[in-house]
Amino acid sequence: MKKVIWITGASSGIGKALALKFASQGWEVAISARRENLLNEISESNERIKSFPLDVTDKVACKEVFNQIKNHYGEVDICFFSTGTWNPKKEKDIDIEQIEDVFKVNFFGTVNSIKAVEDYFKFKKSGIITIVSSIAGYRGLPNSTGYGPSKSALNNLAESLYFDFGRHNVRVCLVSPGFIKTPMTDKNDFKMPFLKTPEFAADKIYDGLLNKKVFEIHFPLELTFTLKIFSIFPSKLYFYLIKKLTKFQKR
Ligand SMILES: NC(=O)c1ccc[n+]([C@@H]2O[C@H](COP(=O)([O-])OP(=O)(O)OC[C@H]3O[C@@H](n4cnc5c(N)ncnc54)[C@H](OP(=O)(O)O)[C@@H]3O)[C@@H](O)[C@H]2O)c1
Repeated sequence: MKKVIWITGASSGIGKALALKFASQGWEVAISARRENLLNEISESNERIKSFPLDVTDKVACKEVFNQIKNHYGEVDICFFSTGTWNPKKEKDIDIEQIEDVFKVNFFGTVNSIKAVEDYFKFKKSGIITIVSSIAGYRGLPNSTGYGPSKSALNNLAESLYFDFGRHNVRVCLVSPGFIKTPMTDKNDFKMPFLKTPEFAADKIYDGLLNKKVFEIHFPLELTFTLKIFSIFPSKLYFYLIKKLTKFQKR
């Protein structure tokens, strides 16, 4: 029987690499993002991938697009919500409009996407809903007034939904990537430790979703384990270590 995944944020980066990975494993893949031309390029190059353009900040459109996907495929097995935005130049001060914009995409865009599929999965009583967060959501980092807080909120939401969807036999997964080379991180002006390719991320995510069946899929382990240990340190020690490690960063 054919298996179907819906991926948002699939016009580039991690979402695109994951779409190609699932298609290469025989899955039918519905891809969404705003840039229709990029989605079409991907779907034209692979017969298993079909484009469903969407701006996730539009909650009505999220429902409409999911209905189109359901009508097209009949069943959907996995949703992978990977939309995100990051503008490092605007993260250094308290810029309220910027913080609102980041939350609109990263947090509320994900909430809109989950809301669109909620009834379907709760009725179906199977499937996986995946929320893409970041290591930046573990604890506060310098120069991250919007992005980090939006990802922390997603971490809390994912744990909350793990219980609520779990009662309906629906698995909720959290993805916490370290640094991955994508258009998003190409904007960074600092050295990114353990930088990996989107294909590396896609392999880890595929394995975590289908083989390991864990709640949180995090990678690369060299970075995520260190940060996980940091996250249980008392604030004084945590601040000291992060200051030391980021002192080369420009303000
Ligand atoms: N790269 C990293 O190192 C890294 C690390 C940790 C977490 N992440 C997270 O991983 C996810 C994917 O990021 P990426 O690195 O792959 O960056 P990316 O290549 O810039 O991908 C971001 C995707 O989000 C889509 N998007 C942005 N706003 C949208 C909106 N309003 N509606 C629909 N789609 C929208 C973009 O497509 P359109 O512009 O076409 O809409 C694009 O497909 C993000 O949630 C990011 O925070 C990335």
